[in-house]
Amino acid sequence: FNVTWDIKAAQKDGYDHYMLKEIFEQPKVVKDTLAPRLPMDQDDIVLDNITLTKEVLEKINKIYIVACGTASYTGLVGKYLIERVARIPVVAEVASEFRYRDPIMDENTLMIVVSQSGETADTLAALRLAKQAGAHVIGIVNVVGSTISRDADDVLYTLAGPEIAVASTKAYSAQLCAMYLLSIKIAMELGKLSKDAFIELRKELYLLPEKVSQVLSQVDDIKALADKYINSKNVFYIGRGLDFAVSMEGALKLKEIAYLHAEPYAAGELKHGPIALIEDNSLLVGLTAHEELYDKTVSNIKEVKARGANVLAIALEDNKDISKIADDVIYVPRTHWMFTSLLANIPQQIFAYYISVGLGHDVDKPRNLAKSVTVE
Ligand code: G6P
Repeated sequence: FNVTWDIKAAQKDGYDHYMLKEIFEQPKVVKDTLAPRLPMDQDDIVLDNITLTKEVLEKINKIYIVACGTASYTGLVGKYLIERVARIPVVAEVASEFRYRDPIMDENTLMIVVSQSGETADTLAALRLAKQAGAHVIGIVNVVGSTISRDADDVLYTLAGPEIAVASTKAYSAQLCAMYLLSIKIAMELGKLSKDAFIELRKELYLLPEKVSQVLSQVDDIKALADKYINSKNVFYIGRGLDFAVSMEGALKLKEIAYLHAEPYAAGELKHGPIALIEDNSLLVGLTAHEELYDKTVSNIKEVKARGANVLAIALEDNKDISKIADDVIYVPRTHWMFTSLLANIPQQIFAYYISVGLGHDVDKPRNLAKSVTVE
């Protein structure tokens, strides 16, 4: 499997920062990661480097998805999708915890590790533990030839190209796409997803790059919202289901590059503590793209609004009634429920980016952070 990164791919191309350039590369990255695996002349997902056979897969009774940072939130999305469509129990966990808790694994365990760099020390240690226990390891990795890509049994490469900004954007989107493919593939192999259902999903996957572009076309509106909320002191990100995973990534971006205190919370847990922190001018980013749970999240948003918070909602394009509750709404295009995480996350990237720029921070090289953490 060959991926060639030319020098041009590692330049700023007229953008103010690598991060902004990488955000705008996402339609291409999504297409590059999805299209080669979805040939139109076969009603199947073609994953070149996966040796896991149907026979072994049928015996898998547990899946661990292990990663660090942003990649670990791909794991949360993966857990949700694989459990829903393939009906195998999945534990998604950060590698620094997983490696020291004597996890239960054997040859009927599948481990999926997710890593942009393929070099993160804790993720690598988790992978090695799994291999020692006889588990099968699939790596979702961006850097070809990296240690994780070499040590995993199988690799599903994300085709994001070099990511220079420390805060991950396009690599995360590519990881989500890889996770979509893998969960659908596992479900199909296990006979949990019909050919017709797959063809529908494939159609939606092919529409994603254009839908990502539609989100990006709102950049000026999202910048205006970043300017409006730049002085927020406490920002809460809430969502349910897949939106909860997305809210984790949204809050992380704001911490990483804008240095704002941002807390992600499962919307239903708000009343078990964090709602006590809500006061006038707190900012709540309410994710409502996981439509099955829309009404539930909206009622949580109302509770927070009633306590004086400003509400910025991220919603599917035709859920316009949210505008009666939220102060501001960013709409994203409708897609199949499995793929909403990709579209709902992109406004959060742009929002964090412009807050960081507005506050005068070093967006591409935030303080105290490294692109790749190769020591413990
Ligand atoms: C560092 C980076 C994050 C990244 C994490 C995991 O903390 O700053 O952006 O998500 O490492 O890195 P990996 O290369 O394993 O995805």
